[in-house]
Amino acid sequence: MTVPTYPVETTAPPPVRATAAAAARAQLLHDGSVEQYRRTLADGVDRVARRVATVDQPVTGITPAELAPLVDRVDLDRPLGDAGAALDELEDVYLRDAVWFHHPRYLAHLNCPVAIPALLGEAVLTAVNSSLDTWDQSAGATLIERRLIDWTATRIGLGPNADGVFTSGGSQSNLQALLLAREEACAAAIDPAARAELLPRLRVLTSAAGHFSVQKSAKLLGLAPDAVIAVATDPQRRVRPSAVRDEIARCRQAGLVVMAVVGTAGTTDFGSIDPLAELAGICAAADVWLHVDAAYGCGLLVSTTRRHLLDGIERADSVTVDYHKSFFQPVSSSALLVRDRRALRHATYHADYLNPARMVEQRIPNQVDKSLQTTRRFDALKLWLTLRVMGPDALGALFDEVVDRAADAWELVSEDPRFEVVTRSSLSTVVFRYLPTTGPGRELADAANLYAREALAASGLAVVAGTRVDGRHFLKFTLLNPATTVEDVGHVLELIAHHAGRYVYDHTAADLTCHVG
Ligand SMILES: Cc1ncc(COP(=O)(O)O)c(C=O)c1O
Repeated sequence: MTVPTYPVETTAPPPVRATAAAAARAQLLHDGSVEQYRRTLADGVDRVARRVATVDQPVTGITPAELAPLVDRVDLDRPLGDAGAALDELEDVYLRDAVWFHHPRYLAHLNCPVAIPALLGEAVLTAVNSSLDTWDQSAGATLIERRLIDWTATRIGLGPNADGVFTSGGSQSNLQALLLAREEACAAAIDPAARAELLPRLRVLTSAAGHFSVQKSAKLLGLAPDAVIAVATDPQRRVRPSAVRDEIARCRQAGLVVMAVVGTAGTTDFGSIDPLAELAGICAAADVWLHVDAAYGCGLLVSTTRRHLLDGIERADSVTVDYHKSFFQPVSSSALLVRDRRALRHATYHADYLNPARMVEQRIPNQVDKSLQTTRRFDALKLWLTLRVMGPDALGALFDEVVDRAADAWELVSEDPRFEVVTRSSLSTVVFRYLPTTGPGRELADAANLYAREALAASGLAVVAGTRVDGRHFLKFTLLNPATTVEDVGHVLELIAHHAGRYVYDHTAADLTCHVG
């Protein structure tokens, strides 16, 4: 009997397709491509190293309108076929105009220069590509993450039942903390009707200087639009404990349920640390969940001189730490810690294909049981290698150095009559504005400060941040780079005064011309 043959439909003749697939396979990391892996990565590392060694400004000042056409011009359907050529192209669309956080005059946001052992970790973790959801996708990686969670919880002092999980950042850590708090608050509302009745009455108290991710989380968690109550701060921008106490009482009288108080250990703008011990006492007395957002201030956990500034944090129910801020780790590296590991069950879902409930009885450590994410990077490796190479004291010394530098910067600004400074930070920010003691610069201060920030960034010589304080426009230094000197800060202040003064001059000169005309 003859077997009938049928024509096979293909878009390309089989030999061509096979060649293409073979070429593509060479781009996958496997035993036959390790030389190419070594060479390609070394080339990439080399390009970055050259840039880091030679950039003399934190930014080039390029605008989105100038850069976008270069990115748009790239035809993603026509590959270059060669990593060297792709890196050449990358120089134009990314590296040349990147924002360089290692530059001492990058003073804007909470971005840090990164520890080299962490970069080693990054290279290893992405190549191995472990996924931290289940043991069968991670093995030792899960145990390493768990050790780091225990280490951090011990540094905080959360006690023997603590646990936690790495997250993508402070926003996700805060979201998960509030999810747990919401579920704890709803524990008694078992039937759906009771829960539906309770949800709109839930409230979260946080400092008026707290991070906006608290508001965003409340929205994501289906709370009422006015669920987050911003509590007044003192002149140092720390939440007033008496105001928190009063607000809890007021909520209760109004039939509302305070599901959490969020204390901030390092507010984004002012680097202020809420009185954590007092907040802990108030929350314990009122039986309210205390979450401490230490995304910024967590670096104090490894400081040998300033750890006491976090006193009281050990009484929190949950804590956010961002290693990618004050532990000099590359993005992303963050964690949520909880005092009582049972609270993490609110993030647990057992899927038959991944982490069936029987695995809990078999004591198989699946981190997905604690996480909002499923597939998850092994970010913990970066911190692991950093601790194994440098150790915690070295990290703490780096953070102490930038806190010291910010104190020097504060003195410099506060002694300069051209500037007004808001408050002395406990960490490493300085919020200030150009406000000469006399003259038209006072009336034009808002516009002059906005202009100075933009002009400075456009020049590429330095980058500073901006914020609003009591309705006025201010500028902000965030110091996270130990290489930044007081001279750098002084130099940037001169540049700001120059741009702001120029703005005032131009606008008053224009006014005078109008009046004369
Ligand atoms: C106090 C505070 N909490 C939370 C966050 C959010 O962290 P992330 O940017 O890692 O999501 C920030 C970010 O600046 C912050 O300063």
